[in-house]
Parts: sequence; C-alpha cells; structure tokens
Amino acid sequence: MEIREALDSDLDDVLLVERLAFGEEAEAELVKNMMHDRSAKPLLSLIALQNEQPVGHILFTKAHLTTDANIAIAILAPLAVVPDAQNQGIGGKLIQEGVERLGRSGVELVFLAGYPAYYSRHGFQPASNLGFEPTYPTPKEYPDAWMVRELRPGAIASFSGKVICCDALNKPEYWRE
Ligand SMILES: CC(C)(COP(=O)(O)OP(=O)(O)OC[C@H]1O[C@@H](n2cnc3c(N)ncnc32)[C@H](O)[C@@H]1OP(=O)(O)O)[C@@H](O)C(=O)NCCC(=O)NCCS
Repeated sequence: MEIREALDSDLDDVLLVERLAFGEEAEAELVKNMMHDRSAKPLLSLIALQNEQPVGHILFTKAHLTTDANIAIAILAPLAVVPDAQNQGIGGKLIQEGVERLGRSGVELVFLAGYPAYYSRHGFQPASNLGFEPTYPTPKEYPDAWMVRELRPGAIASFSGKVICCDALNKPEYWRE
C-alpha cells in the first residue's frame, strides 16, 4: 500500500473513493468544494493506493482559533476508505501519515467531528471539555464527537477558544450528522 499526496490529476480518483466509502455524493461534492476553497489552504490531501488502485483518501484543511491568530490548526474531514479495503488499517495509516506531515509543517492541533470510538484509537480526545468549541454544534447525542489531537506536546493546554473552519465547510448541516 502506498500513501502519497494527491495531485490535481488524482481528483477523479479521490472523488470516486469518497463516493464508494460514503455511498452518496455529498462528501465528494464537499471535498471538491474544499479543494477549491482558498480559505482551506494550506490543505493536505493524501491518497492511499493498493496495487495502483485508489482505496483511501484523507483531507486536512486549514482552520483558525478565534482566540489566537498565530497558532496553526487543521480540521480532518473527511476520511474515506472504500468498502473492499476497510478493516486493513488503511484509515489509521492515513491519519498517522497526515498528522506526521502536518506536525513537521508546524501545525499544532488537529480537530475533527467523528466517531469517538474510532478516533480515540488514533490519539484524538474529546475537545469540548478541554476548552475548544466547534464552528457549529455537533449532534447532542454524540457529546464526544468533537475531538482534538495535539501535534506539539503541551499545545492543548496552551490554547482554548472557538475553532472556525474553512468557508466550504462552514455550514451547520455539515456538523449535525
Ligand atoms: C471509518 C473508516 C474511515 C475506517 O477506515 P478503515 O481503513 O476501515 O479503518 P482501520 O482499518 O484503520 O480500522 C479498523 C477498525 O476500526 C473500527 N471502526 C471502523 N469504523 C468504526 C466506527 N464508526 N466506530 C468505531 N470503530 C470503527 C473497525 O471495527 C476496526 O476495528 P478492529 O481493528 O478492532 O477490527 C472507513 O470505515 C470508512 O471510510 N467508512 C465510511 C466513511 C466514514 O464514515 N468516514 C469517517 C467519517 S469522516
């Protein structure tokens, strides 16, 4: 399995992975919009290939913290692995490769709204009790879905505030599901 940065020429493959993983068009559409969103940059888009076939994709987009304009933070959304390639560790490897690259580029915190049981295995912890508010409320029935991982030791304790996502993701409906 190979993980590498997705090129412009990989866009169709990336969108196919999103469609197959989520079984609908919405995430593919959102990814396309985020790729073209200037407020999302710098972004990190990684594609996973197995036997040269696209099987996974992860996207990290730039975000900002209302209380501190200088800290570099990112939002992980979405993560997608095609059904035939799930449960082989590909999602975990995409997360790990992504956070390593972001950490090297100076990003201090990565946020997401996702499955707590999955992402807690990958170093994320519930963010609300640590003082970080999401751009829009996440579903009340999943209080721990809003999560954070620090890429610099001590970063969580050093900051708090509201996380504002890129323009393309800045719609309440994307945060409710
Ligand atoms: C969620 C997803 C990215 C996981 O990718 P993956 O490559 O299959 O994950 P990994 O192989 O790294 O990890 C598999 C493990 O995670 C667990 N897991 C998968 N989805 C989970 C979930 N929603 N909640 C808790 N655990 C989950 C699996 O049961 C498996 O557990 P095991 O190791 O004990 O057998 C993939 O299933 C997917 O693309 N799903 C559809 C799209 C989606 O929901 N994306 C995430 C939201 S942004």
